[in-house]
Amino acid sequence: MSGTPAPVIELADVTKTYESGDLRVEALRGVTLRIEAGELVAVVGPSGSGKSTLVHLIGCLDVPTGGRLRLSGEDVADLDEDRLAEVRNRRIGFVFQQYNLLAYLPAWRNVELPLVYAGVDAKARRARALEALARVGLADRADHRPGELSGGQQQRVAIARALVTEPALVLADEPTGNLDSAATAEILDLFAELHRDGRTIVLITHDPDVAARADRVLRIRDGRVEEVTARDEPAEAAR
Ligand SMILES: Nc1ncnc2c1ncn2[C@@H]1O[C@H](COP(=O)(O)OP(=O)(O)OP(=O)(O)O)[C@@H](O)[C@H]1O
Ligand SMILES: [Mg+2]
Repeated sequence: MSGTPAPVIELADVTKTYESGDLRVEALRGVTLRIEAGELVAVVGPSGSGKSTLVHLIGCLDVPTGGRLRLSGEDVADLDEDRLAEVRNRRIGFVFQQYNLLAYLPAWRNVELPLVYAGVDAKARRARALEALARVGLADRADHRPGELSGGQQQRVAIARALVTEPALVLADEPTGNLDSAATAEILDLFAELHRDGRTIVLITHDPDVAARADRVLRIRDGRVEEVTARDEPAEAAR
């Protein structure tokens, strides 16, 4: 190994084939890419092109059919189920289009969940959940259930939940897909802030305005990376 740190994400000829009954779907057909620490990468492409599949593999929610996937230099194929769960739970934060909040729990209880799985004690969990909610501007909504919050607020709760473990990598699958333009702008500002904090972010989007704020845009088509565009000026210049 050289002195430079391994990329946060490295895929070499990764394939993913889903088989159900007689049907085989080649969702990814050989994806090779590197994402470095601190990058904000947008993933775009038509419906069914393999975007969610790609992000699920990066997030260790599923395993590749072929090829190599390394996270911070570690080949995920070498990790056992316990270690994979640990990577998923401690190093990666997920944000989904549907928020995936538990309806019967107040916001702070939703936010503390990853810390329950991580074995953090109750008092520290509550403190960290409230802190994460404050960071997304929802300190005063901690006791509200998801049904008592707007869509944008629910997504902010979901982002607080993704951040509560302080993950280095945040993966988001159309986080603004269900939001109006005002709520979208708020969520994007939050992601911009996370990016400034030095987090690595991979964000699937259909929205060109969202993609325009990324360091690089990865266009997926038919399970392949069709094009990668870097923003003209380096990220530093935009600060
Ligand atoms: N669990 C699964 N079992 C079988 N096929 C699947 C599964 N998940 C996805 N697929 C198929 O794999 C292909 C890629 O799906 P994927 O969800 O990655 O697309 P996407 O780019 O995220 O699309 P969208 O923009 O609509 O969310 C599709 O043809 C889809 O039907
Ligand atoms: Mg998808």
